[in-house]
Amino acid sequence: ITLYVPRDAVALGLGANRVARALFAGAERRGLDVTIVRTGSRGLLWLEPMVEVGTPEGRVAYGPVTPSDVDALLDAGLVNGGAHALRLGDPEKIPYLARQHRLTFQRCGVVDPVSVEDYRAHGGYRGLEAALKLDAAGIVAEVRESGLRGRGGAGFPAGIKWNTVMLAASPHKYVVCNADEGDSGTFADRMMMEGDPFNLIEGMTIAGIATSATRGYIYLRSEYPQAFATLKEAIANGIAAGVLGDNVMNSGKAFHLEVRLGAGAYICGEETSLLESLEGRRGIVRAKPPIPALKGFLGQPTLVNNVMTFTAVPYILEHGAKAYAEYGMGRSLGTLAIQLAGNIKHGGLIEYAFGITLREIIEDFGGGTQSGRPVRAVQVGGPLGAYFPDHLLDTPLDYEAMAAKKGLVGHGGIVVFDDTVDMAKQARFAFEFCAVESCGKCTPCRIGATRGVETMDKVIAGQDAERNLAVISDLCDVMTDGSLCAMGGLTPMPVMSAITHFPEDFSRGGQMSV
Ligand code: NAI
Ligand code: SF4
Repeated sequence: ITLYVPRDAVALGLGANRVARALFAGAERRGLDVTIVRTGSRGLLWLEPMVEVGTPEGRVAYGPVTPSDVDALLDAGLVNGGAHALRLGDPEKIPYLARQHRLTFQRCGVVDPVSVEDYRAHGGYRGLEAALKLDAAGIVAEVRESGLRGRGGAGFPAGIKWNTVMLAASPHKYVVCNADEGDSGTFADRMMMEGDPFNLIEGMTIAGIATSATRGYIYLRSEYPQAFATLKEAIANGIAAGVLGDNVMNSGKAFHLEVRLGAGAYICGEETSLLESLEGRRGIVRAKPPIPALKGFLGQPTLVNNVMTFTAVPYILEHGAKAYAEYGMGRSLGTLAIQLAGNIKHGGLIEYAFGITLREIIEDFGGGTQSGRPVRAVQVGGPLGAYFPDHLLDTPLDYEAMAAKKGLVGHGGIVVFDDTVDMAKQARFAFEFCAVESCGKCTPCRIGATRGVETMDKVIAGQDAERNLAVISDLCDVMTDGSLCAMGGLTPMPVMSAITHFPEDFSRGGQMSV
C-alpha cells in the first residue's frame, strides 16, 4: 500500500510531517504494510495536507488531513480509498485541478521529487532525449517557435536570449537560474523546486547543451530551506544516475549544476544584482548594456532565466513548439503559472493558458474572498504590480493586454483584497518596500522612495492632500524615467494605480478630487 504525503513547505507548515508519522504509526498498529512517499504539492493549498493513496483504480485523495483525523481515516479504510467526510476522490477530477492546463506542473505533487526513476516513469527526460537528437540551433529554434517568453516578469522572448548566448563566442559560458522568487504572493518556483526539481534540472541541462554552457547555477532565495534540501538531494541523485555530470545520458556532453543560496535581498532577483551576489559581492545592480547574455557571470556569456522559463522547456522539446504555442493568446503563448493568494477562499497554483481573465481566476477558481466580503482591489505581478479595481477584472492575463491597462503580468502572482483595504496605506507600503529593498545605486530610487513615504504620510494625515498628491505624481514620473532598474522604475505602478482607481482613499482631509 502506497500513501503519498506532501513535503512541500505549505503542507509542512500545516502539519504534514505529523500526519505522515500518525499514518505510519496507525498503519503499523493495524498490521498494515504501508510505504509513505513524500511528494510535492498539487497546489490546492486550502486542502493541504492532502494525503493520497494508490488503489487499483488510481489515486484517491483526502484532505485537509490533521493528525487527529488519521485514526478515523484508517478505520474508514483509507488504504483502500474508503468513504470518509475528508475523501476527495480522484485528485485529478477535482474541478480546480481538472480545469487547468498542467503542462509544466504535470508531475508536481505526483512524483517522488528526488527520484530520477520516478521522474522518468512519469515521462521525464523525454525533452532532453529529443534535444540530444537536434543540434544547438535546432533546440534554440524549437524554443523560439514555441513563443516562450521569460516568466520572471519581463516577458523577453526566450528563444532570442538563448540564441544570443548560443552565438556568443567564448570557451566559458554559464546557465543561471533565477530562483530568488521575491514577489509577494508568489510560490510557483518554490512549488516546482520542492515538487518536481528534475523538471528544472532537465530544462537547465537542455539550455546548457543548446548554448554550450557546461556549468549551471541555481540562485535560490535563503527563505526556501525546503527547496534547498530538495534540490541538493535531486542533484546528487541526478549525478549518480548519469543525467548530470561529464557525460549527460551518455551523450558525451557535460553539464554540472550547483545551488547557491542568496542572503535575503529582494533586489538579488534582478539579474545583474543576482550575478554580483553569485560572484560573492554585495548585490548591487550593474548598468546594462552589456547584457548578461554577452557578459554575465565572471564576465562570460550567461543565460539567465527564471525557474518557470526553464521548466517550460522539457514539454516544448518533447511535444514540439507547435503543441506549446497552441495555448495562449496574441504574443503571450503557452501557459502561465498563476499564483492566487491574499484574501481568497481557494488559494493555490493555477496553470492556465494566457488569456484567462482575472475575474475568472478569482471567482471560478478562487471562489471569492475568504472573508466573504466583496473584492475591492487585486494586485497583479508582485509588489511592483498595479492594483486593479473591479471594472478592470475582465482584463485577460496577457503581457500586452495587462500593459494596455497600465499593469503587469509579472511572475503571475495575484493578491486579492476585500473592501476593508485602505489603498492609501497600500500606496505607502509600495514606497516603503522600495525604500527598504533599494540597492542604493541610483538617486531616483534611493532618495525617491524615502521622500515618497514621507509625502504619503502627509496625504494620509490629510495635510494639503491635493498638493502632496501632485508631488507624488511628479516623483513617480522621475522614478519611472530615471531609475536604473525595475525596482525604482516600477514602484510608481502600485502607487499611481492606487491613486487613480481608488481616489476616495486619498482624500480623507476632504480637500481634493482626483
Ligand atoms: P529587461 O526588460 O531589462 O530584460 C529582460 C531580459 O531580457 C533580461 O534577462 C535581459 O538581459 C534580456 N535581454 C534584453 N535584451 C536582450 C537581447 N537583445 N538579447 C538577449 N537578451 C536580452 O527586464 P528586467 O529588468 O530583467 O526585469 C524586469 C521585470 O522583472 C519587470 O517587468 C518585473 O515584472 C519583473 N520582476 C520580477 C520579480 C520576481 O520576483 N520574479 C521581482 C521584481 C520584478
Ligand atoms: Fe538600485 Fe533602485 Fe536604482 Fe535599481 S532602481 S539600481 S534597486 S537604486
